[in-house]
Amino acid sequence: MRKKVMAANWKMYKTPDQSRDFFRDFLPLVAGHTRDEIVVCPSFLNIPAALDAAKGSNVAIGAQNVHWKEEGAFTGETSVGQLLAWGVNNVIIGHSERRQYFGETDDTVNLRLKTALEAGFTPICCVGEVLEEREAGMTDDILRRQCVRAFHAISAKKAAKLVVAYEPVWAIGTGKTATPEIAAEAHAVIRKEATEIFGEDFANQLRILYGGSVKPDNVSSLMAQEEIDGALVGGASLDPKSFTAIVKY
Ligand code: 13P
Repeated sequence: MRKKVMAANWKMYKTPDQSRDFFRDFLPLVAGHTRDEIVVCPSFLNIPAALDAAKGSNVAIGAQNVHWKEEGAFTGETSVGQLLAWGVNNVIIGHSERRQYFGETDDTVNLRLKTALEAGFTPICCVGEVLEEREAGMTDDILRRQCVRAFHAISAKKAAKLVVAYEPVWAIGTGKTATPEIAAEAHAVIRKEATEIFGEDFANQLRILYGGSVKPDNVSSLMAQEEIDGALVGGASLDPKSFTAIVKY
């Protein structure tokens, strides 16, 4: 049995005060919930407030990106050391919004992933096809390519903490969720690729989350799929009640 991860990606939403308010309401609602791991990823500036508010709770805090160099002249970037100094060791890598709007490539995803794993992080590495790719029947090839390149030159031993998120770009923020069957098929492709790259034992343990318009009313049917090991939630994670309903599906 793979323990599910229910992760919130807050993207560029909330101020520190709003982050504190969220945890004030959310923590009592999920207190004692140990069936799944819960991770909330606020934007960098909200991390201290979130850490403070979630201290001693069953909710871990993660970042939404991390650079591959230890330090240097990289304006606007954040290093593993800076995150670790706050006690943060969860991080989203290669989100499609980074790929679409900020020039993230398979190669930079690979660099970030290597550094994060090396530093002991639990990275959530995102993959997923855009609508045109799905319509052209290219989904499996795209997912395989993204995995091969993201995991390039990383050993199974190094990758032990890896978590993957399948986020079809056409389902993100659109209200169009992949059906549980479509998601499970994509997860199976990713797991098969992970088997080829890291071996069967690794792939059997690998948690693959689904992301893309996960809501309280569709989460249970998605989680009922054996292939789906949790959710990466955007919009519906911003509200404590709605994220609780998702966590406790
Ligand atoms: P939505 O849940 O808002 O579709 O966002 C999904 C996502 O991008 C999570 O990383």
